[in-house]
Amino acid sequence: MEIIHTSVLLQECLLYLAPEKPSSLFIDGTLGEGGHTHAFLSRFPDLKAIGIDADNEIQQRARERLQEFGNRIEFYHGWSDEFFASYSTEKQKPDRILIDLGISLFHYEKSGRGFSFRSDEPLDMRLESDSGESAADIVNSYKEDELANLIFLFGEERYSRRIARSICQMRNSAPFSTARALADCIYSSVPSDYRHGRIHPATRTFQALRIAVNSELSRLPRLLSLAMNALALDGRLGVITFHSLEDRIVKNYFRDLSKSCICPPEMPICKCGGKPRAELLTKKAVSPTEEEVRNNSPSRSARLRVVKKIVVGDHIKW
Ligand SMILES: C[S@@+](CC[C@H](N)C(=O)[O-])C[C@H]1O[C@@H](n2cnc3c(N)ncnc32)[C@H](O)[C@@H]1O
Repeated sequence: MEIIHTSVLLQECLLYLAPEKPSSLFIDGTLGEGGHTHAFLSRFPDLKAIGIDADNEIQQRARERLQEFGNRIEFYHGWSDEFFASYSTEKQKPDRILIDLGISLFHYEKSGRGFSFRSDEPLDMRLESDSGESAADIVNSYKEDELANLIFLFGEERYSRRIARSICQMRNSAPFSTARALADCIYSSVPSDYRHGRIHPATRTFQALRIAVNSELSRLPRLLSLAMNALALDGRLGVITFHSLEDRIVKNYFRDLSKSCICPPEMPICKCGGKPRAELLTKKAVSPTEEEVRNNSPSRSARLRVVKKIVVGDHIKW
């Protein structure tokens, strides 16, 4: 089987998330084609793993790639926040959790679901195919101002209003069905200097649609706190993000976990217990080296942040 995706910040993940004791459990909350998990299981022969992915198609690829590890790995098909929400307290607590957010190169190049604006594929973008609204449902049905807000909020696109207006005008003649048709519409709606910028003018709108279709930003805070809850004492959670919207959520959450008091400033005395719940192992986010970016350009925006859990207790709000 041809592996399409190159794992990002792999050496850094192996360093920060190396297990310290035998028979540790590693949970990969975003398994993809299984690159990170493959490296962990190969490097640490006593390690066991659980691999989670919302996308069944890519998970089949990971199953094939990881079959050499036999029963050292189990698979779960679904969203990782839902996995952690139902993770039994009777089960072994994970010592290491890795979340490598977003989508895999497989999705852009082979999924046939319109993630790439260069493709003539159906405009779908769902990771969990057949469930919920597709990207085409959104662009063909949202009101112009709803669409503009979505493109602005999730894509940080400064021409969101022009793009939304143009989409709504064009869909009156025929609804959008392919990624290329939408990309062409966006291209023609923006000023000419923007068309020839560093990135394709449809990049941010496509990011916004993918985030909305898969509820990526609303899942993330829940995923982080459920993962922290499941983690063993002294366990570590590492998260790789690819854009500022998700990185901000992870950065603020980890900062709050490591602070001694998280009471609102207007509270006269501390009511939260005043103890840090985690130690920040990456004071600054870890970025890929120049060499990694040269060899794998999609890694350029990757940022890794890692915390270590230092308290237990169900009374703690994660
Ligand atoms: C960046 S890729 C992971 C690549 C993987 N680390 C590797 O090295 O091959 C992210 C994967 O996680 C899945 N995914 C993204 N968010 C998810 C979530 N909240 N729950 C479950 N799967 C998710 C996507 O379907 C995709 O396959």
